[in-house]
Amino acid sequence: MAAVQTPWGGRFQSAPAELMERFNASIGFDRKLLEADIAGSVAYARALQRVGVLSAGELEQIEAGLKQVQEEFSAPDCALPDALEDIHMAVEQRLTELIGSVGGKLHTGRSRNDQVNLDERLYLRDAIASLQVQIRHLQGVLLASGEQHSRVVLPGYTHLQQAQPVLFPHYALSLFWMLERDRGRLEDAWRRADFLPLGSGALAGSAFPLDRAFLARELGFSQVTPNSLDAVSDRDFLLETLSALAILMMHLSRFCEDLILWSSAEFGFVELDDLFATGSSMMPQKKNPDALELVRGKTGRVYGSLMALLTTMKAVPLTYAKDLQEDKEPLFDALETSAICLEVFAGAWESMEVCAERMESAVDSTALATDLADYLVGQGVPFREAHRVVGRLVRDSLEQGRALTDLSLEELRAHSADFGEDALGLLDVRQSLARRNIEGGTGPQAVAEQMEKARQVWAGS
Ligand code: ARG
Repeated sequence: MAAVQTPWGGRFQSAPAELMERFNASIGFDRKLLEADIAGSVAYARALQRVGVLSAGELEQIEAGLKQVQEEFSAPDCALPDALEDIHMAVEQRLTELIGSVGGKLHTGRSRNDQVNLDERLYLRDAIASLQVQIRHLQGVLLASGEQHSRVVLPGYTHLQQAQPVLFPHYALSLFWMLERDRGRLEDAWRRADFLPLGSGALAGSAFPLDRAFLARELGFSQVTPNSLDAVSDRDFLLETLSALAILMMHLSRFCEDLILWSSAEFGFVELDDLFATGSSMMPQKKNPDALELVRGKTGRVYGSLMALLTTMKAVPLTYAKDLQEDKEPLFDALETSAICLEVFAGAWESMEVCAERMESAVDSTALATDLADYLVGQGVPFREAHRVVGRLVRDSLEQGRALTDLSLEELRAHSADFGEDALGLLDVRQSLARRNIEGGTGPQAVAEQMEKARQVWAGS
């Protein structure tokens, strides 16, 4: 009886149902791994030649064949039907069509289990490297905008209530440092992906004495995986990447939320450039912050990818099971979504107008209350007591509909005899800032130093 025409068909009497073929196929999405797959196979063929499985001539044929497969498959109009199952089998099948039965030697001692793991590590390495470039670019945008608006003051919020005034560059740099940690997390994921899994075979290790150190060198890995069962089961590096991306998106999303609010008529702190806004089909006056809303919205999608893969992984018995094929779509989607969001966010920030006067005039005089309380502390009043005194002062002035800054020295003194003449001078936004030159604070001196530190980190990255 003739074997079924798939690479694994020998054991089968009939081909899978068309439904099964369609259900089982990953070629529709894993063709993104083409380049990685070819690179892995070229290195693998070289390792096979070194242990005598391939002759020098056969290696040459395989290398040339793989090159041609890569060219053919990377043509945009190249159709790869579901019958090919996945990119690994598609490459092998086409290779064999091109160079004959010697193509069938390539998979000696290899399994798609170690192969797909390798391909994902290779793919991830490039994807992370390009995300790092994008994050760095956004950090540069933040540095530049912090420098451009170095003296701009805006209200700082907690609970979305005005808290204390801060400098705009302080605000911009807060995202800079979040992104710096994002880069660190991606770098960590990268370091833990930097192990060669090839040689693990299906699960038990290849029976051919392949030189794994050679393979690692050929493919640019700094180490080899120490346990074949772990290697073919491992998707931690994908989970770590997805988790780093989820956190990155959360950061962007929080700033989107601020900027969306700030671009409303009520705030008017920023105006998005037309380049990154859209209109309404009905209301002619509208200019909507869709770019930022989409980044915020897509954050949910990236979280979803992380949850999808975590959930897929949780009950997969060691080692490989086809569940693991479900790792690719969330990975690709999260990588692509994060990349475009970084690009859009950087573009929107870079082009938006910062309405400095609106920001500064929005600082409510009550945002200086802590400074008055701190003053009393300087006069020897316990902080709790000072807090109460100033609290009453704020309440009285609110009842009278007056700003804190309009109060006279007598009125201050009526609340506490400890207010001296110099207390009035505190009721000033710049004074408030200048009192916060502690390292990491929003004082102009401290922010200038912070900016310098950020510049150095950025230049060294
Ligand atoms: N397409 C498969 C995947 O993405 C490749 C590995 C298949 N391995 C197997 N033993 N069937 O996971």
